[in-house]
Amino acid sequence: MLRGKHILVGVTGGIAAYKVCYLVRDLRKTGADVKVIMTEAATRFVAPLTFSALSGHDVATDLWSVNQSSASDIATRHIDLATWADAFIVAPASANTIAKLTYGLSDNLLTIIALASRCPILLAPTMDADMYINPVTQQNIGRLQERGYVVIPPDEGDLASGLKGPGRLPEIQVIIETIEHTLDKSAQDLKGKRILVTAGPTFESIDPVRFLGNRSSGKMGFAIAKAAAQRGAEVTLVAGPVSLETPRSVRRIDVESAAQMHEAVHAHASKAHAVIMAAAVADYKPQAAAKNKIKKQGPAESLTLELASTPDILLSLGEKKKKGTVLVGFALETDNELLNAQEKLKKKNLDFIVLNSLKEKGAGFGTETNVVTIVPRRGKIEKLPLMSKFDVANEILNRLKNLL
Ligand code: CTP
Repeated sequence: MLRGKHILVGVTGGIAAYKVCYLVRDLRKTGADVKVIMTEAATRFVAPLTFSALSGHDVATDLWSVNQSSASDIATRHIDLATWADAFIVAPASANTIAKLTYGLSDNLLTIIALASRCPILLAPTMDADMYINPVTQQNIGRLQERGYVVIPPDEGDLASGLKGPGRLPEIQVIIETIEHTLDKSAQDLKGKRILVTAGPTFESIDPVRFLGNRSSGKMGFAIAKAAAQRGAEVTLVAGPVSLETPRSVRRIDVESAAQMHEAVHAHASKAHAVIMAAAVADYKPQAAAKNKIKKQGPAESLTLELASTPDILLSLGEKKKKGTVLVGFALETDNELLNAQEKLKKKNLDFIVLNSLKEKGAGFGTETNVVTIVPRRGKIEKLPLMSKFDVANEILNRLKNLL
C-alpha cells in the first residue's frame, strides 16, 4: 500500500539514527519514494551520504546549504518538501525536537517542515528512559498527540546509556505498519469540503465572576475536527470554553456564550458543505447579567435567577438549510432517548442526529470513549459499539461523506 507514496523521513540526533538506515531501506522495498532530512545533530551519528545512497535522493541537512541549489530553491525548499510528502516520520524523535514541535519552534529544516506540512506526522520518540519518562517530555508528547501527531511508543529494554527502560526505537516493521495504517486512515476523501464543527459548553454570565455552564469537555467535537482535517477537509471549529489543544490544520474560533456561538456559526455556515453541532449549547441564560458581583444577602436568604432562552443555533440553521448542505446534530438524553432524538431530528431539519446516552458505561462527559446511536432521516438506526471518540468521529464522517 506504500507503493508510489512519498515518505519523508526526518532524522534527529540519537544513537538510534543508525537503525533508521534500515527503515529507509525497507520503506523503499515497499515501493515508496523516500527522502531523508537530518538535523545537524543527526549528522554526527550517521553521514548524510549513507541516507543519500539508501534513499536515492540528496539529503537535506540545513536550510541554508547551497551545494546544488539556486537561491530560489532555498526559499521554497521547506515548502516543496512539506507538500511533496504524503507522510512525514520523525525517527528517532529526540526529546529536544519533540519539545520544539510542541512549542512551534522552527530553527532548522525539520521543524520548519513540520510546521508547514499538512500531511500526517509520525514521531518515534527514542531517548534515554529517564528523559522519556520525564513529565515534561510526557506532557509534550501528550499535547502533540492531541493535535493529531501519531506517536509510536518506544520499546523497552537495554539502552545505550546502560539503563533499562522505555526509549528504544520500535521494530522497523512496526514503524512501517503504523505509517501504512495512518495513511489508510487519512485517505483524503474529504478534500475540498468545508466543514464547520462546534464543540464544548457555553458559559452564560450571571455576573462578572459567575456563570451558568455545563459539563461538556469538548472532546467529541474536537475529535471530529481532528478527524475531518486529517481526511483533507477544510475545518472551522467554533469552540466554547474548553482546555484542549487545537488539532493541526484546523481554524479555531473561540467563543463563550450561546449568543457568540450563534454569531460565529452563522458567519461561517453559508460557506460550509456540512455543519456538525457537537457543542452543548445552553438553552437558558440569566435574563440580564449583573454588572457587579452579586453579594450574599443574609445566611438564610435564597436568590432567584430569572432565565431567558438563548437562540437555538441548529434550529435556525435547519430553517434556512440549502439543498446539498449536510446538517448534523447531537442529542444528549436521559429518558425516551430514541423518541426525543427523532423529534429533534425532524424539528431541526437534520440529515442525522448522534444520540448520546448518559446511561451507557464509557460514554458521556470528559471520557475518551463514547457509545452513540446514529439516527438518520432516512435509513436504519445504527447503535455503534463502545469506541474512542476519534473512531466515533470517523464513523460520523463516513456517513456524512455519503450525503455530501
Ligand atoms: N443546540 C443548538 N442551540 C441551542 C441548543 C442546542 O444549536 N440553543 C444544538 C446542539 O448543539 C445539539 C442539538 O441542538 O446538536 C440538540 O441539543 P440538545 O440540548 O440535546 O437539545 P435541545 O433542542 O436543546 O432540547 P433539550 O435540551 O430540551 O433536550
